[in-house]
Amino acid sequence: MIFHKPVLLKEAIESLKIRANGKYMDATIGGGGHARAIIEEGGIVLGIDQDPEAIEYVREKSKFKIQNSKLVLVRGNFLDIKEIAHLNNFEKPDGILFDLGISSYQLDESGRGFSFLRNEPLDMRMSKDSELTAWEIVSRWNKDELYQIFSKLGEEPNSRAISDSIVRARRLRPINTTGELADVVAESVRGKKTGRLARRHPATRIFQALRITVNRELENLEKGLKGGFEILAGGGRLSVISFHSLEDRIVKSFFRKLVFSGSAELTNKKPIVPKIQEIRENRRARSAKLRTIEKI
Ligand SMILES: C[S@@+](CC[C@H](N)C(=O)[O-])C[C@H]1O[C@@H](n2cnc3c(N)ncnc32)[C@H](O)[C@@H]1O
Repeated sequence: MIFHKPVLLKEAIESLKIRANGKYMDATIGGGGHARAIIEEGGIVLGIDQDPEAIEYVREKSKFKIQNSKLVLVRGNFLDIKEIAHLNNFEKPDGILFDLGISSYQLDESGRGFSFLRNEPLDMRMSKDSELTAWEIVSRWNKDELYQIFSKLGEEPNSRAISDSIVRARRLRPINTTGELADVVAESVRGKKTGRLARRHPATRIFQALRITVNRELENLEKGLKGGFEILAGGGRLSVISFHSLEDRIVKSFFRKLVFSGSAELTNKKPIVPKIQEIRENRRARSAKLRTIEKI
């Protein structure tokens, strides 16, 4: 099973300037692709993931044959990065990587309803610690609440029509699965202009909005970056791979403030994006952006 193919692998590892026996935190270990490369370069890794299946995969199923002394695994939320580092004697790491979003495993195989291409229960939780599910939002939130998340977190131009349709449809019959939701969304935008992303399935941005809400992705990112930068060693690097404009905006503005206050330097003026070859081989890479800062 391919759990996840790491995006911008070479670029991310180079960005961290790994040195032998340096301490590195992988805040989103997923299938361990980036972490393994850091270890191969001589680094020691503390890997975090909020999804127990990712931790279990890296610990037991992957071919990640490495000495335990080189890798510590913690199931947790990167929002608590400071506490996790402290509890695991990982104060002042030399580098931290955040590779945001979900893994291919979560999207395609977890059965948790991340993809509208499958018919699965509407869940979308990366970790069962969270009580809120996509089902709860789709079934219980009112029209205006739905509109707010679809327009802000999905940047969906037809958010009004889609929220209206969901509320109407669920009065007739519950919307329990990703397939049922995707059908309601497709039906509500039939014949409408869907803008520059018209070739995408109309549910793409609705699913994005639900996933971000369920997992509190933007709040966690803000807190995770802040905590990560606080513990980073002087001269250490913080690299973030983002996959959509809302995430990238948070990273960019956080980095800009640090540079402005003289606490960090950007290693590249512009974000690093994948080469065409990588995008051809891995469609998931197409929207990736890597930004890095070095702490002064
Ligand atoms: C894109 S994957 C990482 C892939 C990894 N770099 C690799 O090479 O296999 C993102 C991972 O981050 C995890 N994740 C997302 N948000 C998180 C958070 N707030 N705290 C901890 N893990 C998180 C997800 O569960 C997922 O496994």
